[in-house]
Amino acid sequence: MNNLLPVAALPSLAAQAVGNTPVLWTDDGYWAKLEGFNVGGIKDRAALHMVEQARRRGELRPGAPIVESTSGTLGLGLALAGVLHGHPVHVVTDPGLEPIVRRMLAAHGAQVHVVREPSPHGGWQQARMDRVAELLLSLDGSWWPNQYGNPDNPDAYTGLAAELSGQLDRIDVLVCAVGTGGHSAGISRALRATGSPALELVGVDSVGSTVFGLPAGERLMRGLGSSIHPGNVDHGAFDEIHWVGPAEAVRAARRLASRHFATGGWSVGAVALVAGWLARTRPRGTRIAAVFPDGPQRYFDTVFNDEFCAAHGLLSGPVREDPAGYEPGTPVDGWTRKVMDRAGRAR
Ligand SMILES: Cc1ncc(COP(=O)(O)O)c(C=O)c1O
Repeated sequence: MNNLLPVAALPSLAAQAVGNTPVLWTDDGYWAKLEGFNVGGIKDRAALHMVEQARRRGELRPGAPIVESTSGTLGLGLALAGVLHGHPVHVVTDPGLEPIVRRMLAAHGAQVHVVREPSPHGGWQQARMDRVAELLLSLDGSWWPNQYGNPDNPDAYTGLAAELSGQLDRIDVLVCAVGTGGHSAGISRALRATGSPALELVGVDSVGSTVFGLPAGERLMRGLGSSIHPGNVDHGAFDEIHWVGPAEAVRAARRLASRHFATGGWSVGAVALVAGWLARTRPRGTRIAAVFPDGPQRYFDTVFNDEFCAAHGLLSGPVREDPAGYEPGTPVDGWTRKVMDRAGRAR
């Protein structure tokens, strides 16, 4: 029997492989939404939605190039959108991009531009944005999704929120890594507007990140954190912020791998660390959902590589079992928690 699919069916199959991801109960006391089950990762949702909305509005013309700055996950989603809708895709990244992601991007037809120097004002992210601006000028009709400020990025997660509500019914606490701010803003807004109006949102950021007002510092972790101030971060939506360091995230990701098999990289480790702590310290019965943005494959040369971890001192020495309380003016150099001021917050 000929079981080959007609060619036209292939791209839509790829799109069907986005969304409807499973949730996993961990014996650390929380539910994990496994976004690594998407073909690329969590940002397949944002990439497809941003591209489809821009095409609908006529901002992205048929066949026009897409140009974006990414640390990898959005690039994979844009490559998918490019294949589906027939757009050349240019992704701008920095030397920290894992070789496996670079090769996957190229395999899916994306052109990868690597900036070589951080910008003196705004680090690697600003250097990437500067290159994006140059490419937009030089490529005719090109379109920039602007994942840091495009409202279609958070809006893309309405579907994820609906999936979570269907899977878990009531949710008391949502734990999200924060990079552009897209998924934390979009999921929390949709859950608060529907079945979980009293939802608490806990944001997980990287030490050295400027997202929540700290000075820029060195950042080893990718995915979460930023060296700019992304407009999509919904500051008023957060009840708590946790800054996590790379040694803490690595140990949590490795622990997950050995105990649950389901794991991921920097952001998954950091989110798991915080979700597990919340489960230990909140009243019994509190229902906690944590978003795991991707799976472990791209981190086998970093988080899961003993030599890499040893070279960065990530496996030796003690790490915090509980977060330190945030003190203004004191450097944040490891797991630290800040409870946000609820006064005057619009919900
Ligand atoms: C692996 C990973 N985790 C977390 C995030 C942060 O998600 P968001 O940009 O929606 O805040 C990203 C963003 O690129 C990511 O790639």
